[in-house]
Amino acid sequence: KVSAPMPDDIRARKGGAPLVSLTAYTTPMAQVLDPHCDFVLVGDSVGMVLHGLPSTLGVTMEMMILHGQAVRRGLSKAMMVVDLPFGSYEASPEEAYRNAARLMAETGAGAVKLEGGVTMAPTIAFLVARGIPVMAHVGLTPQSVNTLGGYRVQGRGAAGAQLRADAHAVAEAGAFAVVLEKVPEGLADEITRAVPVPTVGIGASAACDGQILVVDDMLGLFTAFKPKFVKRYATLGEQAEAAVAAYAEEVRARQFPGPEHAFADAAPEKRS
Ligand code: KIV
Ligand code: NA
Repeated sequence: KVSAPMPDDIRARKGGAPLVSLTAYTTPMAQVLDPHCDFVLVGDSVGMVLHGLPSTLGVTMEMMILHGQAVRRGLSKAMMVVDLPFGSYEASPEEAYRNAARLMAETGAGAVKLEGGVTMAPTIAFLVARGIPVMAHVGLTPQSVNTLGGYRVQGRGAAGAQLRADAHAVAEAGAFAVVLEKVPEGLADEITRAVPVPTVGIGASAACDGQILVVDDMLGLFTAFKPKFVKRYATLGEQAEAAVAAYAEEVRARQFPGPEHAFADAAPEKRS
């Protein structure tokens, strides 16, 4: 068994071979990703992707713990990062610590991720100083959809200065990596060159030190909408639809189950 990378190993990948990451929410998906990913994120996107919520705002600590435990059981090689959900860390560093410690202790995560730049830097420093590795997340921060006014590209024009300041602040506070979401290419490149920790892009171009996608998006399992930055590597949703239609048709036609799926009345004789 290869031991999972530690946050410092991820940090040391700055400027090197690109970091590979996807989200996961269940044991079987974690098992599929484990050999291929440097870290797996139990994202609060679980609320939209698996629970049918309209945004990530309704995601709870209990949901993150349950999905974190499931993913942990499917990983042996990749590091696991778990998102702190909306409302669990913003009010104070102390509250962030209590919830982050609970997530780490109950799920076996190697690190937590939280959204925010300059505003959250003191909280990041507070957690890191007390033994909790933090991955930051700036640019489009979906938990702030109501103050950002939608899921728009972030940091264009004059807003670039704020985003640069955010990325610098989280790195200086001790975050071991920073997710850049929906950031224009030139700015993502500039930030990646400027900050001392790896940038992990989602909709932030190939200039980043690594990439992450929501696994259900790239597999074509979540199809309610497709952001421009998603590439579909499979169409599993369509395959599931066709499989279920075939099953329904065969059951109605009494074609399934076949003789090979049925049991004989007498137990088969044992051979020695
Ligand atoms: O919740 C999530 O899936 C995320 C990634 C998209 C970075 O935060
Ligand atoms: Na998230």
